[in-house]
Amino acid sequence: MSPSEAQHRIAQLHAEVARHEELYRKEAQPEISDFAFDLLVHELGELEQRFPQFARADSPTQQIGDDRTEGFKEVAHRQKMLSLDNTYNETELRAFHARLVKLLETDDLRYTVEPKIDGLAVSLTYEDGKLVRAVTRGKGDRGDDITRNVLTIPEAVLPRQLTGVAPRLVEIRGEIYMTQAEFERLNAERAAAGEELYANPRNTAAGTIKQLDPTEVAKRRLSIVLYSLGYCEPEIVRSQTELQEKIRAWGLPAVEKYWTVRGIDEAWAAIGGLDQLRRTFAYGTDGAVVKLDSVEQQRTAGATDKSPRWAIAYKYKPDTARTRLKSITIQVGKTGILSPVAELEPVFLSLSTISRATLHNEDEIRRKDIRVGDLVEIERAGEVIPAVLRSFPEERLAGAPEFDLLAAVGGKCPVCGGRIARVAVDTESGVGAAWKCQNYDCRAQRAGRLGFFCSRRALAIDGLGETVAAKLVELDLVRDPPDLYDVSLETLATLNLGTADEPRVFGEKNATKLVAARDAARTLPLEKWLYALSVPDVGESTARELGQRHRNFAELVDSKLLRAVLQKAALEEEKERDSPNSKKNPAKDEAEKERRKARRVEIEAELAALNGGVLAGVPSEIGPAVAASALEFFASEPGRRLLTKLDQLGIDPQGTVLEAGRFTGKTFVLTGTLPTMKREEAEQKILAAGGKVSGSVSKKTSYVLAGAEAGSKLDKARDLGVPVIDEAEFLRLLSGA
Ligand code: IVH
Repeated sequence: MSPSEAQHRIAQLHAEVARHEELYRKEAQPEISDFAFDLLVHELGELEQRFPQFARADSPTQQIGDDRTEGFKEVAHRQKMLSLDNTYNETELRAFHARLVKLLETDDLRYTVEPKIDGLAVSLTYEDGKLVRAVTRGKGDRGDDITRNVLTIPEAVLPRQLTGVAPRLVEIRGEIYMTQAEFERLNAERAAAGEELYANPRNTAAGTIKQLDPTEVAKRRLSIVLYSLGYCEPEIVRSQTELQEKIRAWGLPAVEKYWTVRGIDEAWAAIGGLDQLRRTFAYGTDGAVVKLDSVEQQRTAGATDKSPRWAIAYKYKPDTARTRLKSITIQVGKTGILSPVAELEPVFLSLSTISRATLHNEDEIRRKDIRVGDLVEIERAGEVIPAVLRSFPEERLAGAPEFDLLAAVGGKCPVCGGRIARVAVDTESGVGAAWKCQNYDCRAQRAGRLGFFCSRRALAIDGLGETVAAKLVELDLVRDPPDLYDVSLETLATLNLGTADEPRVFGEKNATKLVAARDAARTLPLEKWLYALSVPDVGESTARELGQRHRNFAELVDSKLLRAVLQKAALEEEKERDSPNSKKNPAKDEAEKERRKARRVEIEAELAALNGGVLAGVPSEIGPAVAASALEFFASEPGRRLLTKLDQLGIDPQGTVLEAGRFTGKTFVLTGTLPTMKREEAEQKILAAGGKVSGSVSKKTSYVLAGAEAGSKLDKARDLGVPVIDEAEFLRLLSGA
């Protein structure tokens, strides 16, 4: 790999990892498995080692992450809560041991081996034996105060008072989780109400504990298990084994099983033993944690910014199973993309029976050489949709044909029979191609858009899941998502989601809830509505940017900003063509060159006339492709139809154009902890005022906004002479005072 390729891939990995982190931690709605996520981080770490010149100080390989959410009070931990290094292979585990042997100058090392619980890290503070506080890990040094939510866990599960001899002040750490049984109970409830199902117990537990209303939290049974120590006064624990005993003696919930072993061979054996047992535990486990037993040795070994050197998590590979691929069916998504789905001989895997799995796309089927009738291996890693990993061609009967998607659908959309066309799509391995149904009014696309419109990330109209969406479209009650506002409460209540023989009505209660959620969504901001309406090429962050730069749909449809973006791109293309080394269509003669130049002057003038200031500070999300897409869509028949409907309904979502322009053209870099504002708040304020936020300091940086414990960015700012401001100064600038 060349350095420039490495640089590109590192940037790509940064963006990908950050996106998945956010989905996982903040939204509790991951798109990929933990395993796939770990692989991305691992790849990033390896590239950073090979190309240290591109390693960023704020890399996820060097940082703890951040689980803080808006609305909770922040509290500092007395002792930092660290993360754990992890590995999927034995060699790396042995290297961990070898490092410690060298560091501690002895090969007589004792370890504990414990289950790695797949939940949400929490730190409990007990003062004089009494539970006084519960805080999430946050960003390690400070987290969210979730005491009121944790107090909804029954006292029988989590004692408020330690038994026996308690230290004066102690932080006891562990994991909040949801049992499989509780998870299934919740999902059964949601299925009955036609609501979106939760993906897995881990994310459901995290999503639950991050609710601001404790009465909502109390409706779900959360559990907790404790395994580690933070600050402790007086220091009374000399080993991890002793801590395990103390946790039990204090009457707290402890791990079901742990091992105290000597040397790495015994640790490896215990890891195997745990793998045999772990599926019987009440909590999900995705690995084993190996910890040096002696607290004194732990201290000597120390820690990096991110994780202790004395502990490591060995992660088990996700469960897989083998079964027969009966057939491949084709699903049509909300954008019309045709995707292949594996119909499987039902097989039991990770606590449920699986009969369908994703095959991603046709290229992937080819690459993995998967054919109908094959024995296949499937994986389930905490996601809703299991995936087909591989086939076993050597066990295939001769003559099984390769899968041909076009032939399988007879050259047309399997749902509406409409025309399909080949389009470029983003895939895990870069850009690929897929077939797409060209009919915007295809039933599958309509149902997909309606479901998305109501999903939690869009307008959060809870109560309308896939089944209800499909039914409303099938009965022609909804063509475009906003038509949902015309469906009466009575029609919703009597909606039959079952069959004629076995009816299952949606019901009065569910319908009432849906109507309330639908009405609440009327006043959501422009950015949410824009995202919810599935405008081609407008993703969540693009919608946010557009929503912050337009007052309403009327302004967006005729957006000066978007037109300016297009004009500017056209101008740049012209310039490029006439540059001396351009191979593309250079001007034939002087006369043509003159004509082009005149045209440029013209465009330049148009641009200036549009609004000189408007272009400054346009974020990278809003490029010419997005601009063209959005303008085209709102000018098209479906786009106009949507806008007319909103108009009729009296829905006029408002943009969040705040103090626009104050920071236009300014770039900020944030470092350290601000006294009152969270980092995201400061970022929001900068973006809303037209400024940009960057991760690294350069000569182009306008200001470095620094708080307590600012890092190397501060030094760099001083070296380069970039102005450094604190929170107070920042607020002054923002208010224009
Ligand atoms: S010890 C300083 N033990 O895994 C080390 N952590 O991926 C502190 N976790 O942040 C952690 N089970 O939230 C420890 N038996 C266990 C664990 C465990 C789960 C979590 C913990 C940690 C994360 C790292």
